[in-house]
Amino acid sequence: MEDYKEKFSKPCLILALETSCDETSASVVADGRIVLSDVISSQIPVHQKFGGVVPEIASRKHIENVIPVVDQALREAKVTLHDITAIGVTYGPGLVGALLVGVSVAKALSFAADKPLVGVNHLEGHIFANFLSYPELEPPFMSLVVSGGHTSLVHVKGYNEFELLGQTRDDAAGEAFDKIARVMKLPYPGGPYIDRLAKTGNPQAIAFPRALTGRDNFEFSFSGLKSAVLNYLHSAAQRGEEVNNADVAASFQAAVVDVLVSKALQAANKCCVQKIVLAGGVAANSELKLKLQQQCQQAEIGLYYPETILCTDNAAMIACRAYYQHLIGNYADLHLNAIPSLKLGAGK
Ligand code: KG4
Ligand code: ZN
Repeated sequence: MEDYKEKFSKPCLILALETSCDETSASVVADGRIVLSDVISSQIPVHQKFGGVVPEIASRKHIENVIPVVDQALREAKVTLHDITAIGVTYGPGLVGALLVGVSVAKALSFAADKPLVGVNHLEGHIFANFLSYPELEPPFMSLVVSGGHTSLVHVKGYNEFELLGQTRDDAAGEAFDKIARVMKLPYPGGPYIDRLAKTGNPQAIAFPRALTGRDNFEFSFSGLKSAVLNYLHSAAQRGEEVNNADVAASFQAAVVDVLVSKALQAANKCCVQKIVLAGGVAANSELKLKLQQQCQQAEIGLYYPETILCTDNAAMIACRAYYQHLIGNYADLHLNAIPSLKLGAGK
């Protein structure tokens, strides 16, 4: 982190908060793209023993952590609340109790310091993480948002113009990874463990189904795939047969990745864009990045994905999104509330 204040006289500084799920995070970003601090306090060890996020515990942990995290973000950025231009906060989608902690603190800070408040959509934040990893990146592009709660294809036409092409009808890609991992007795969150295990397995060992593969169908469905993997594991257990877990992980991952890659390329083609931008926690998946890289190269499409720390939940991506809303004066007032099922493009 550079000492931005020494280099520039009047930067636009956004302080952002992110508490939508199980990370309490605060960040200061200068002029939309320069990360001065990005403090992430993860609750993963707390939830791991339950095999998933317990909403009530998440809210309580956010309350404990949020003020120290904000303090640290300001200190690391070497700025005070007084220097901040605007305050951004995730207000959906996410767990309502968890979101309310960030929203309440952001509103209190905005009121106390008399700074404008920007309400940010978490999914748009994931997409904007790419602007932090690639300072030269600009819209238009096709974004594949793949997280624990969402799987969507979004045509990003401008910094404040989005078109949702399609999303999942049931489970999100990350959710499928986590559920399969849980049955295979891998720790939470399971995505990174499946990713690692799959490296030693054969992706063609088991023919798991790929859903909704019709041309220009931009919807996803992963519940059939999840059931197929669970049936495979249960049938083998009933017959007393030993299962090759690495083969199951590799074959399951191949089924998810095949669908994501083929739909992302078709969507880019349909919307005549030359760039595909990955976003969300599953963007850290090594097979997804590799397969997309190969296909994009063939199709002469540029591929962008954030560095791993910016793939999962963090406040720097929220600050980046808030900056572009600030530029067009898209502010919230003190009535801002948490919206657990907030739709893309509804930011305020
Ligand atoms: O974006 P994120 O941090 O939280 C949500 O907004 O949901 O995404 C978390 C999800 C989890 O389901 C996790 O298992 C998955 O991202 N994930 C991965 C990998 N790293 C994280 N999935 C597959 N492969 C990975 N390497
Ligand atoms: Zn997320």
